[in-house]
Amino acid sequence: MSNQAIKKIVLSKLGNAISDEKAERIITKIQIHEASELSIVLKTWENQFDLPDWVKSEVTINETFFFRHPEQYSDLKKKWVGKDDISVLCVGVSSGEEAYSIAMIFEEMAIKNYKINGIDLDPNVVAKARQGRYPLHQLERTPEQFKSLLTKYGETKTGIDGACYWVNKKIMDKVEFNQANILTFFLRRYDLVFVRNILIYFCEEDKARILKRLKLSLKPDGSLVFGSGELLDVNAA
Ligand SMILES: C[S@@+](CC[C@H](N)C(=O)[O-])C[C@H]1O[C@@H](n2cnc3c(N)ncnc32)[C@H](O)[C@@H]1O
Repeated sequence: MSNQAIKKIVLSKLGNAISDEKAERIITKIQIHEASELSIVLKTWENQFDLPDWVKSEVTINETFFFRHPEQYSDLKKKWVGKDDISVLCVGVSSGEEAYSIAMIFEEMAIKNYKINGIDLDPNVVAKARQGRYPLHQLERTPEQFKSLLTKYGETKTGIDGACYWVNKKIMDKVEFNQANILTFFLRRYDLVFVRNILIYFCEEDKARILKRLKLSLKPDGSLVFGSGELLDVNAA
């Protein structure tokens, strides 16, 4: 019963559809960490606009890596060659590797003015993205053909958390990260919107809502980039 109640609250407040297993983890955490009884916590959540940040971290899956879906980064070079001003939004940017990968490609293309905004629901990954610092094992999945760009635009340093890869300042200055929900974030106009590997977490109705919003956020001639393999009915939006 509480499982269903949690799933319903998360769906209505955040938009995310979650599994029974995740709902159970949230219930366990409420029982351990919250001062009030489960039924009171659920009633409170029902009556408020948003949910606590820890719940957002609990419901999200943050898998990502530098230059994921490499063919899409190669396509960027073809589509945006010769352009000087490019504004980019990465929705569901996770810990930032996607946004930094785009910045490295644009540096290679010598694009003069570009700015990349990344948003994510989970405050923990937004904090990581802002640091631009990654344990070396997180670089292992970088596709071979892009590894030299990581070397060119960052360096390995050893600090209190061991050896880490640090994105360099020039790249970090081009990228900004904020916590926001894909269903409600403030819409601005962008040339390029990356929305990769996130729509699978939404029901069909919310997917259509999201696509409608993202289409509105595109400048004329702008592009939406989905995760390769994501099946979407773009015409439904
Ligand atoms: C699987 S990751 C994809 C990361 C990256 N786009 C990539 O393709 O490598 C999905 C990200 O979407 C974020 N997310 C999930 N629901 C969201 C929402 N309602 N609004 C914004 N971000 C959300 C998660 O926190 C997670 O970091």
